[in-house]
Amino acid sequence: MYPDSFIEQIKSRIDIADVIGQYIPVSRKGRDYWACCPFHKEKTPSFQIRVDHQVYRCYGCGKHGNVFTFVMEETGMSFVEAVEYLARRAGLELPEQTYNPEEARRKKLLEKIYAINKETAMFYYNNLKSEGATSALTYLAERHLTWTTINRFGMGYSIDFDSLVTYLSKKGYDIETMKEAGVIGINEQGKPYDFFGGRLIIPIIGGNGKVLGFTGRLLEKKPDFAKYKNTSTTLAFNKRKNLFGINIFKKYKQDSPRKMILVEGHMDVISLNQAGIPYAVASMGTSLTIEQCREIKRYADIVYVSYDGDSAGQNATIRGLELLKGMGIEIKVVCLTDNLDPDDYVNLYGREGYEKLMEQALPLIDFKLYTVEKRHDFGSYDDKVKYAKEALNVLQGLDDVEKAVYLEAVSEKSGLSKEVLSGQKPDSKPETEQPAPKKEDKEQTALTLAARFVLSCMYFGKKFVKIADVNGDFFPDEGHKKVISYIIDCGKNGIYPRGDKLYELLEEDEAAKIMDAQEEVNEVNKADYYRQSLILLKKEYKSKEMKRLLVELNNVDEEKKPEIKQKIAELTRLIF
Ligand code: UTP
Ligand code: MN
Repeated sequence: MYPDSFIEQIKSRIDIADVIGQYIPVSRKGRDYWACCPFHKEKTPSFQIRVDHQVYRCYGCGKHGNVFTFVMEETGMSFVEAVEYLARRAGLELPEQTYNPEEARRKKLLEKIYAINKETAMFYYNNLKSEGATSALTYLAERHLTWTTINRFGMGYSIDFDSLVTYLSKKGYDIETMKEAGVIGINEQGKPYDFFGGRLIIPIIGGNGKVLGFTGRLLEKKPDFAKYKNTSTTLAFNKRKNLFGINIFKKYKQDSPRKMILVEGHMDVISLNQAGIPYAVASMGTSLTIEQCREIKRYADIVYVSYDGDSAGQNATIRGLELLKGMGIEIKVVCLTDNLDPDDYVNLYGREGYEKLMEQALPLIDFKLYTVEKRHDFGSYDDKVKYAKEALNVLQGLDDVEKAVYLEAVSEKSGLSKEVLSGQKPDSKPETEQPAPKKEDKEQTALTLAARFVLSCMYFGKKFVKIADVNGDFFPDEGHKKVISYIIDCGKNGIYPRGDKLYELLEEDEAAKIMDAQEEVNEVNKADYYRQSLILLKKEYKSKEMKRLLVELNNVDEEKKPEIKQKIAELTRLIF
């Protein structure tokens, strides 16, 4: 949005060490500054700020970047916000933004969507006060929700499948825009209908106070229908990015450390709120994404994770929590018993009961050990050994003091001495079992995983990466090719790839997967894993290309053949 020359001007006016020094204590050693990394927990500084290049890099967690990425990471600002903030700091006037017709169209549509959403929320809310609302009101009463709560969350009811469409049309909105907002669907006969027809409505409101989208809950069980239905992805709403309840959370100002309760469901947030606990948000059923983590980091220092018993220990959940922890957030896991969710629990035991559970919440490592423990029954020596190996996996990456403390605990549980445990090599198996992928997908999956891993290492500037060894041809995926050419360009210009660029080049789901690709691999194995991944990609490329050339050779005119034979010879000589 702002011209590159302006970005450069800001960089030249601002000293990165000054900016970072505002957020964390830094100390000068020789030419450079050092600090304890703000992005992961550590006790000795491995976070370097290079004055000559105006960049930072953490030798512990690998995070690196320039003054813009630092401000984005640390505060949760977007790139544009960071530019504007730093420009102000540098005393620079903001230049006229270059006019982008596509961007302008999006902005206009977004405003319209917000307006439709607001109208729709009012419409649903007013339905609750109309004659047809008996079943919805009965349902709300059965769930013990008061009018104060209903009003606070702006809940509502969709009585039927038609009246919303009529209402919005009368207000002057066209079908196309209603569709863009996600409030209607179009049936097979081409007729528009209320997307949430017949459901109890919970609007999803952003930190900006605008209605982003909706969730609709069935009033009664219907076998072929999902219990909850969310607005599909629109310009305003994206399940991966938004957190339910953030608007209410923001109003509640806290002393530091700022607490946040993270739950799975809307009803959990609503019931906690009604019980007098107003600092809960919901991830809406999916495991945490990097965007949600960033959002959380803006507002909280400690997160109390309060998922349903069965989903808390799952691999995907833990990975999301590790991501959050890696950003410097303290994680506590609230253990709910008897298959209760926070909604059930707080309805049974009230605010005091729930707060008691929060006091007993486990740090993430303890919770992971506990999850491992639950999977073993300790009947035989064999069980104990298996437990110990899995537990050691969990302890990888801890600092020495922490490790000593937790080894003690594992030793006690398993009956194996600490000496034996310290001598054990950690099992290379992942901590929790994952379902085996289908056989036919296996090859494809291996390639995709390899591609993501290589991209991720290149992106984060791992020491063992040689950019010259990599070529866009090795990547079967079109999006991946674009990323490679961006990284290669950055390399040529001597700049670090920008974190947000991945999200511009790829679908966000894919970008997030690349961001997370190194999570599962132990730091010491990364170089090896990288090498193997690259070989896999190259081999696949070689065999595909060979097949293609052979087919071509059979189909071209005689005079073109030598050229292709030459290519085949070159390819044959490629060894990895
Ligand atoms: P749950 O099924 O655990 O919800 O789903 P819950 O809180 O127990 O719901 P109640 O108490 O029966 O009303 C948790 C979250 O997962 C998402 C929703 O965001 C829900 O709040 N979900 C669940 C869906 O998106 N679709 C579904 O069909 C079910
Ligand atoms: Mn529930």
